Amino acid sequence: MCGIVGYVGRADAAPILLDGLRRLEYRGYDSAGVAIVDGDHVEIRKCAGRIASLAKLVSENPAPGLFGVSHTRWATHGKVNDENAHPHFDASGKIALVHNGVIENYQALKEQLIQNGDTNFRSDTDTEVLAHLIGNIYRQFDGKDSKARLVNAVRAALKRVIGTYGIALVHADIANFMVGARRGSPLVLGVGKDENFLASDVSAIVAHTRDAIYLNDFDVVAVERDKFEISSLDGVSGQHPVSKVEFSAEDIKKGDYPHYMLKEIFEQPDSVRDAMRGRLTYEECTAKLGGLNMTPAELRDVARIVLTGCGTALHAAMVGEYLIEQLANIPTEVEFASEFRHRNTPMTPDTLVFAISQSGETADTLGALRESRRKGYRTLGICNNVASTIARESDGGVYMHAGPEIGVAATKSFTSQLVILTLIGLLLGRMRNLSTAQGSRIITGLEALPEQIEEVLKLSDRIKAIVKKYADVSGMLFFGRQFNYPIALEGALKMKEITYLFAEGHPSAELKHGIIALVRPDLPSVFIAPDDTVFSKNVNNIEQVKARKGPIIAITSGNGAKQLKGLVNEIIEIPAVLDPVSPALTVIPLQLFAYHLAVELGRDVDKPRNLAKSVTVE
Ligand code: F6R
Repeated sequence: MCGIVGYVGRADAAPILLDGLRRLEYRGYDSAGVAIVDGDHVEIRKCAGRIASLAKLVSENPAPGLFGVSHTRWATHGKVNDENAHPHFDASGKIALVHNGVIENYQALKEQLIQNGDTNFRSDTDTEVLAHLIGNIYRQFDGKDSKARLVNAVRAALKRVIGTYGIALVHADIANFMVGARRGSPLVLGVGKDENFLASDVSAIVAHTRDAIYLNDFDVVAVERDKFEISSLDGVSGQHPVSKVEFSAEDIKKGDYPHYMLKEIFEQPDSVRDAMRGRLTYEECTAKLGGLNMTPAELRDVARIVLTGCGTALHAAMVGEYLIEQLANIPTEVEFASEFRHRNTPMTPDTLVFAISQSGETADTLGALRESRRKGYRTLGICNNVASTIARESDGGVYMHAGPEIGVAATKSFTSQLVILTLIGLLLGRMRNLSTAQGSRIITGLEALPEQIEEVLKLSDRIKAIVKKYADVSGMLFFGRQFNYPIALEGALKMKEITYLFAEGHPSAELKHGIIALVRPDLPSVFIAPDDTVFSKNVNNIEQVKARKGPIIAITSGNGAKQLKGLVNEIIEIPAVLDPVSPALTVIPLQLFAYHLAVELGRDVDKPRNLAKSVTVE
């Protein structure tokens, strides 16, 4: 949700900022801009559209200089146009600011500024108000040390702000200097040699440095070429550890793949392996998850579990509910993170809460985590981004180790989440009544997964061929039962996100309770019907659709293909798989289906309209 990059060093800032923005484009891509200080003035280039449009603008009208800030936007306040693109000037035109977040009280602040004669607003954004406020306070402050004066003005302005922000700003009169601050939106300081960086995410700067300092809420950082100082909003200096970024610039390249999404779909054999690596114990037939920070007795005493997240992570949570209840017999509740905070979910003292989030920055999930911790519940994270706010604020958790996920549609993070939830179910089950034989079966099922995923990936061309036959459908329905009901939801979500077609997921048996009225020749039904304990029940529902002349695509396994022949229009056959592990396999054809259909329809797969990968606003 908006990406920020700042640079101060000895190189030409523009190419570094533009390259960083390209890496952050997944966070938002409706407009972009750079502000670079050239001598005694700030040059701003900005426009609606993608980074490519901004790069063209900069090449036509270069912005030279050795330090500056930049932004790629996902609009929250004000429509998408050149004026609303960041950076924004203060009233003097000396300060240029970029912002990720929402200033909730911007209207009140704007009215106060206007009353004080500061009327020169050019955009409808909350960000411009913050730029003006900082400039207004800066002009009122005295002092010869203009750097300290600017940092103090930033602090004073932010104390008046209600809302969230990750910001970076420069001042035309203060050479080789930028200021950053965060509350609720991520901001990382990249520490280089004779150059330093600010960014919303390390992927923007990893080509230049792998030394990073993850800023905390209410940190303000003053950045120069060869030094930086981090302090609190109250001006108290702080020390933060320098972390090594785990991945390299190579890891975030598309390689030979046309899209990140396809690359990430094909990375799943490895990401699934990495999610379980070192976490299975064969002797005891259980899982080993040291990051939970819980003793065996504490694990045994968990009486209730709440799983929370948004979007795809929520679908993983829904599979988790089936898994944990089946393997460990612990009552498990799934809560939309956005609802959890605002309703009164009944919780017992021995409830364990898991916040599931690939990015670890999703505002709704972070809000749920904070609410749960505020009430004193042990709250654990299942995150991919190791240094994320959710990972840092939780009482422990399990990392996905899926590597950077750039495609806006989540794919490999989902299968990693499923593996981790299976490990959690296995661990908790083995603390209770799950036998060694049952535990061993789960381990065998998990270990078979990477190779089975490789088998399913070989179906990509076949799925592409099927998709061509269905390219002019008006939408698609997805059905599944039990472990695969959430996969129907996930298949529909992938379809909606990247093809923009109408799609819905339902438990198969719900068909006859209303949805069947939708069945018609241009609305195919996709049944996720592996050869499992509910296969014959799925067949009943398939018959119901067939009787009403609805086209049917079935994903099945084992003897399923034989039984469905003649009954359905298309069969996608996947390897036979243990029921609880099956979602991590059945979802792969659905990811490929959505991908190939989106390509066929000419959609922008990695940057679907209106979306952003990391949703850091409520
Ligand atoms: C779907 C998708 C979103 C995310 C959701 C949560 O493809 O990407 O629905 O799953 O925004 O994001 P994280 O997992 O980063 O909290």
